[in-house]
Amino acid sequence: MSGYAWLGILLGLLLFGGVLYWLLITTEGVYLGRRMVVWLYDLAAKEYDNLKAYDPRDERLLVARPVLRAVRGLPEPVILDVATGTGRVPLDLMREPSFRGRVVGLDDSRKMLAVAMEKLAPFAERVALLRHPAVPLPFPDEHFDAVTCLEALEFFPSDKAALREMVRVLRPGGTLLTTRRCGWEGKAFLHRYRSQADMEALLEELGLAEIQFHVWEINYELVTVRKPGHGHSAGQVDYGKDGRGPRRLLHQDKAEGHGFRPEEKTGE
Ligand SMILES: C[S@@+](CC[C@H](N)C(=O)[O-])C[C@H]1O[C@@H](n2cnc3c(N)ncnc32)[C@H](O)[C@@H]1O
Repeated sequence: MSGYAWLGILLGLLLFGGVLYWLLITTEGVYLGRRMVVWLYDLAAKEYDNLKAYDPRDERLLVARPVLRAVRGLPEPVILDVATGTGRVPLDLMREPSFRGRVVGLDDSRKMLAVAMEKLAPFAERVALLRHPAVPLPFPDEHFDAVTCLEALEFFPSDKAALREMVRVLRPGGTLLTTRRCGWEGKAFLHRYRSQADMEALLEELGLAEIQFHVWEINYELVTVRKPGHGHSAGQVDYGKDGRGPRRLLHQDKAEGHGFRPEEKTGE
C-alpha cells in the first residue's frame, strides 16, 4: 500500500474516533437518544461523584442558597429536582439546618439513583427518589413550590418539552432554577446550544417572568425564573410514613401511593 493510502486510513480513523468522542463524551449521547444518555449515566454512576468532586462549601453557595432564597418564607416547601442524578440538590438542602421542607428527586438512571439512595438514606422521611423520564412528569399541575433542574437540560431529547413540564408542575408564584450550558462545551452541542437570548425567548414563550442569568460554574450559568401569579403548592404528599423513603420509591417506576397520579412512562 502506498504512503497516501496509509495516510488516508489514518485520517479516516482519526475522524471516526473524533466523531465517536463527540457523540459519546462531549455531548454524552444526546444525539443518539434518551436511552443512550441514560445508559451512559448508568455506566458512570459509581464514578460520578469522584469525577465531579463537589466541595460542600461551594455547594452551599451555588446550590443550597439560591434554592433557599426561592422558597423563603415557606415553612415546609415541597421541591422537585428533575434529573437529580446522585442526589446533589436533595443532599445540599438536607445539610441546611434552616431547610425544613421535602424534596422529590427524579431521574431516569437507575444506577445514579442507587448512589443517591445510599447518600440520602438518613433523610428518608423527607426525600423521595423516583425513576422516571423528565417528560412527562408524573405529578399534577401546580404541585411544587420550586423546581430545580441542574446541569441536565442539554441532555434531554427536547429541553423545551422538559421545561414545559416543569412549569406545569410548578405552582403560580413558584421559582424554577435551572442551568444554561455555556462556553465552548455549550457550543459543542451545535444546534442544541442555547445562547442567553435563545434561552430567554424560550422561557418567555413558556410564560415565565423575572428571568435572571447568574454567573455559576465554569461552563454553566444558573438561570432563575418565576411563574407568574400567586398560589399554594398542592404538595400534600406523605413521603415519610410507612417506610416510603428513598429505598421503597427507587424500586417503583411510578409514584403510586404517594399522592401523585402517575402517568404512563412514555418518555419524550
Ligand atoms: C450531569 S447529570 C446532573 C445530575 C445533577 N442534577 C447534578 O447537578 O449533579 C445529568 C442527569 O440527567 C439524567 N437524565 C438525562 N436524561 C434524562 C431524561 N430524559 N429524564 C430524566 N433524567 C435524565 C441523567 O441520568 C443524569 O443523572
